Amino acid sequence: MPDLFEAEGPIELAEDAYLVPGYLARYSSEMIPLLRNILRMAPLRRMQVPGGGWMTSQISGCGQVVWVSDLDGYRYSTIDPLTGRAWPEMPDRLHQLAVQSAAVVGFTDFSPDCCLINCYRPGTGMGLHRDKDERDFSAPIVSFSLGIPAVFLFGGHRRRDPVSRVTLEHGDLVVWGGKSRLYYHGIAKLANATHSELGALRINLTFREAL
Ligand code: SIN
Ligand code: FE2
Repeated sequence: MPDLFEAEGPIELAEDAYLVPGYLARYSSEMIPLLRNILRMAPLRRMQVPGGGWMTSQISGCGQVVWVSDLDGYRYSTIDPLTGRAWPEMPDRLHQLAVQSAAVVGFTDFSPDCCLINCYRPGTGMGLHRDKDERDFSAPIVSFSLGIPAVFLFGGHRRRDPVSRVTLEHGDLVVWGGKSRLYYHGIAKLANATHSELGALRINLTFREAL
């Protein structure tokens, strides 16, 4: 009998960027209650961008700092602007899974201080951008996808560089660092779908060393 949860090996998306299909599926049932607990303390919300528009994904997070955006710009903040309190602590288990996941593709010194949570419903997405508000770019970005599928757009150093389209499913792990750490990326508008545990929702966690 093949093991249903046996993940495929890493697929190289670009230099120092990897997809590990299904790697996290076996951990999703322990992660989902941890996430629900975080979202009770730091509810999902939409964020405004400096130009005045609103992001379509809903955002929250945990850890020492979380990325926030408003009319004044983008930054990492120790305080949740919605509640006025510190962000929920990153559960040890999530930290451990992020460290383990980075190591699977060879990033061995990773210790995230931020877990950004992005939630997408059908019809929402995220425009091409670079993750460049972190202090030190030597650490990778570690991304966990749960729930309904989405098409991840992964480009290059310039916004106009060609973009590859990679479908991310429940349980997929993506890690990018090194030469592709500052590559443009985004999420195409999600199609209608339903997931057995999460309904019509995609949750993406990105772990970062921000400080
Ligand atoms: C992000 O770029 O911060 C989120 C990417 C994703 O939702 O997969
Ligand atoms: Fe990003």
